[in-house]
Amino acid sequence: MKFFVDTADTKEIRELAATGLLDGVTTNPSLVAKAGRDFFEVLEEICDIVEGPVSAEVTATDHETMLKEGKALAKLAGNIAVKVPLTVDGLKTCKALSSEGTMVNVTLCFSAGQAILAAKAGATFISPFVGRLDDVGADGLQLISEIVEIYNQYPNFTTEVLVASVRGPLHVIESAKMGAHVATLPPAVLRGLFNHPLTDKGLAAFLKDWEGTGQSILDRLKS
Ligand code: G3P
Repeated sequence: MKFFVDTADTKEIRELAATGLLDGVTTNPSLVAKAGRDFFEVLEEICDIVEGPVSAEVTATDHETMLKEGKALAKLAGNIAVKVPLTVDGLKTCKALSSEGTMVNVTLCFSAGQAILAAKAGATFISPFVGRLDDVGADGLQLISEIVEIYNQYPNFTTEVLVASVRGPLHVIESAKMGAHVATLPPAVLRGLFNHPLTDKGLAAFLKDWEGTGQSILDRLKS
C-alpha cells in the first residue's frame, strides 16, 4: 500500500519524506487555504520534495475552465496529478487530461457507481472519502471494499483506489486488508502509525540491559 500525506504544509511533508516511506502528497483547496501561502509556490515546493504524485485540485466547475486550469497545473511539474471533482464536467476533464497522459485524481467520491464512472474516464486515482461517510452514519470502509471488488473484476480498469478522508489507523489497516492501493493520511495519522506503547517499553528495557554490559557496537569500527 502506498502512503500519501494529505496536507499542504511543506514542513510536515519534508519531515515525513525524510522517513523514506512517503509515496506522494494530496492537497485540496481547504488544505491550501490552511497553509496560507501562494498556491503555485507551495505546489512547486512540494513537487521538489517528493518524487511521487502530488495532487493539485482545480477550482472551476465547468469543463472548459477546468481543462485550462488542469493544463496550467500539469505544467508545474511532471509529478502533478490534477484533482477534479466527481461531476459530469469533472469526469469530462478527467477523460481529456488522462488521454493526454496527465495523471488525474478524481475526488469527492461517495458511491461505487461514481467510482465505476471515474475508472471509465481513465482516472489514475479514485478518492472515496471514508471519514466523511462515517460522519453521516454511513460505512466508509464498506465503500472501499465495494470499489476494490468491482475494479478487480475488470483488468482494463487501471484506476488505483486512494482512500481519502482518513481519520485513524483502523481506516488504514482495514483498507489495506481489502487491497486498496493508496491511503492519503493526515500527518498526525501517519505519525501515529509508528507508535505502540509496547515498542517504547520494550526498547527502554533493551537499552537498560545493554547499558549494563558496558559494550558499544561502534567501538568495533575503531579496531
Ligand atoms: O483531500 C481529501 C480528503 O482527504 C479530505 O479529508 O478530513 O477533510 O474529510 P477530510
